[in-house]
Amino acid sequence: MTLHIGIIGTGWFSKVHADLLQQIKDVKIQAILGTSKEKAQTMAVKYGAVSYEDVTTMLEQEHLDAVYVCVPPMAHGEIEFALIERGIPFFVEKPLSVDLDLPMRIEAAVRETGLLTAVGYHLRYQKNAEKLKRELSGQTIGMASGCWNGGMPGVAWWRDQEGSGGQFIEQTTHIVDLLRYVAGEVVEVQAMYAGRSMHKLHEGVTVPDVGTVNLKLQNGAVANIMNTCLLPDGVAGRAGLTLYTSEGIWDWNPEQLAVSLTDGQRTTANDNNPYKSETEAFLHALRTGDRSLIRSDYHDALRTQAVTVAALQSARSGERLFISEPANQT
Ligand SMILES: NC(=O)c1ccc[n+]([C@@H]2O[C@H](COP(=O)([O-])OP(=O)(O)OC[C@H]3O[C@@H](n4cnc5c(N)ncnc54)[C@H](O)[C@@H]3O)[C@@H](O)[C@H]2O)c1
Repeated sequence: MTLHIGIIGTGWFSKVHADLLQQIKDVKIQAILGTSKEKAQTMAVKYGAVSYEDVTTMLEQEHLDAVYVCVPPMAHGEIEFALIERGIPFFVEKPLSVDLDLPMRIEAAVRETGLLTAVGYHLRYQKNAEKLKRELSGQTIGMASGCWNGGMPGVAWWRDQEGSGGQFIEQTTHIVDLLRYVAGEVVEVQAMYAGRSMHKLHEGVTVPDVGTVNLKLQNGAVANIMNTCLLPDGVAGRAGLTLYTSEGIWDWNPEQLAVSLTDGQRTTANDNNPYKSETEAFLHALRTGDRSLIRSDYHDALRTQAVTVAALQSARSGERLFISEPANQT
């Protein structure tokens, strides 16, 4: 059976997903929705799809098996509710939004309908992330240290606090999600953010450009995740997560996992494309109803969103915040 897929968004990442989907047998990119007919049409021509500029029209005119939602954080809401109302499964890129209130309402509706969803926390699908999770399971994790340090993306919405939610919500969320995946739930956060340079160097920057967040896990482990987006072009940044146990150090970055034990260090390069694996898991669930390969769905991603939004609130208030189960979650 051919799956007919719609894509919402015509930017960088909708094309990454479209390129992957185009290579998969029995998948047809049927419809593309953009903020203008011209943008949608340009992309639709490339993928042999029909273009739309209005979500209701697209969903009423096409019989879509699923939709990929690849819009900036501030643009969520209407799209998800339109999909839920019509019972159309969706894959949505992280983060779920700029705040927690809207994702909580969407999650409640998803839960009520039992709709199939997946969220683009692709690092969970890395072979090395699996290895990290497997090797740490059963150990007592003492401490973790993570980071996402780089330059500032060029798109205007990213630099605007109302548009992206800031770096920790928009980007560093991947590291928070990986920490949750391999080490367990976060129950406390305390954050400090500052705007040091980027608002002086560029117009329209309202996001902080440095931040450090202390976290406590349910199992008692402590962690710190820091991020900056002030590095200049040409200076290599770093994203990673390092975990310390009484057996050694597990030092992960997107390219490799280095494990230091008493008998020396072993390094394993990551050798799979996690974006391909996450899409295959979603398509498998669409075809068979078996959701077991999906490593991040809307319910789970809400917990990562709760942590990153609490960090922002803590940075603003100066308070240490305790994270309860998001109220609507099962
Ligand atoms: N998982 C990952 O590794 C990864 C990597 C990059 C981006 N992303 C995520 O993907 C999302 C999109 O990022 P991007 O880099 O493609 O951004 P982008 O700015 O390149 O593209 C965003 C697109 O969304 C469109 N858009 C905005 N509001 C819309 C609406 N209401 N309806 C339809 N289209 C709308 C814009 O016109 C634009 O085409 C972000 O949430 C980002 O965090 C994830």
